[in-house]
Amino acid sequence: MPDIFDKCDEFWNRMKKVTGDHFDPDIFFRQFPVTNCLPNVEIGGTEYLQVATNDYLGLATHPDVIEAATVICAENGVGTPLGARPLTGNTSLHLKLEEELSKFRRTEASLVFNLGLGAMSGTIACMVGRKERVFVDAYAHGCLHDGARLCKGEASWFAHNDMDDLESQLKECPLDQPKLIAVDGVYGMTVDLAPLPQIVELKKKYNAQLFVDDAHGTGVLGANGRGTPEHFGVEDDVDLHGGTFAKSFGTFGGYVCGSKRALDFIKFVSPGFMLTKALPGCITNATIKSLELMQAMPERRHQLWENIGILRDGLRDVGFNIGDPKGAVTSIFTRGAMALSAVRMLMEEHKIIVNPVMYPAVPYGTSIIRMTASALHSPEDMQRLIAAIVAVSSKIPLLEGNLAAASKVGTITPEVETSPASTNGSAR
Ligand SMILES: Cc1ncc(COP(=O)(O)O)c(C=O)c1O
Repeated sequence: MPDIFDKCDEFWNRMKKVTGDHFDPDIFFRQFPVTNCLPNVEIGGTEYLQVATNDYLGLATHPDVIEAATVICAENGVGTPLGARPLTGNTSLHLKLEEELSKFRRTEASLVFNLGLGAMSGTIACMVGRKERVFVDAYAHGCLHDGARLCKGEASWFAHNDMDDLESQLKECPLDQPKLIAVDGVYGMTVDLAPLPQIVELKKKYNAQLFVDDAHGTGVLGANGRGTPEHFGVEDDVDLHGGTFAKSFGTFGGYVCGSKRALDFIKFVSPGFMLTKALPGCITNATIKSLELMQAMPERRHQLWENIGILRDGLRDVGFNIGDPKGAVTSIFTRGAMALSAVRMLMEEHKIIVNPVMYPAVPYGTSIIRMTASALHSPEDMQRLIAAIVAVSSKIPLLEGNLAAASKVGTITPEVETSPASTNGSAR
């Protein structure tokens, strides 16, 4: 008799089918020490080079950020305030962070959430009501897909960064039907940018509003680190700016910035804001500090880009096709699950930690070695990583796998039937 858990076995059987010899689920959920910081981590007495977190600017361990959290913890405990924002969780720290975010984003208002995922999914879910529509890029982060699935309106997906597809879908909607376009600023897996100038043109032409989740762009792109909208000079045309504090800010939580009109509504109806405990005060205070430092220390962003350049030039010089990534993450796509074996070898033989990514976060039939340089790495760290990847390539056919997969990324044919949302929708 079939039961509800049959799909669990089917999932793993499908994984084994594509991954063959490289099937290695244990590479995920490796145990790391609590002191898992950049650039080096000590595990069991051995030091590892860590090129695997999204603490792009290295702010997670900045002494001023730590101090800002510690002061609040020492006085008030770790989890306080323990109420939801509309109850007893609305402190001066939350209001201060929202005020500073509005200045940074140049918006009328901001809301701080206890999770980036809840900020994005909750915003889309509550904003798109009955008889309204949301158009989501097929490669957007899973939380945008979740928001689209949860909303009461109609959801459609357009092919990744395909403006013709988006326009043809917008055209089918009556002009006076309220609609939202939801995209990432920087796509976390393909590391390309949403073509915001063209999207802005379309949103104006077809009477839509625009939501940009710039989790990966903020602090990294733009002359002042204000992310993808600043990079393209379209900040004022983005109606809702979403993001996480768990990347460049080096802390935890998420936010949405926009008009007071929109945010006063979200504040009262989004379960991700209303029905959940407020972001702890220690994290909120630390985030106020990291936002200040992000703006005061452009040299961190410059160092980040210098390290990224060294890593990418080095990988290209030894023959890898890493595409033309525009954000801070550098990915080596491979066929099947070869990346899992490579990541294990990098860790065990070279004492370097990078991330493996496989389906369903990337298209079925591919996997990625995902490397995240940061401002705290040195040029020598990048050279060490390149040399280790070359050494791994001499043992497994990484380069061949990369060349086979890289040319197909974005168009790769899933070997099982999957919807855009399930193929790429959980991309991180
Ligand atoms: C594009 C994007 N949006 C949202 C999130 C979720 O943010 P959080 O980790 O704060 O829930 C992530 C995190 O990986 C992300 O990459």
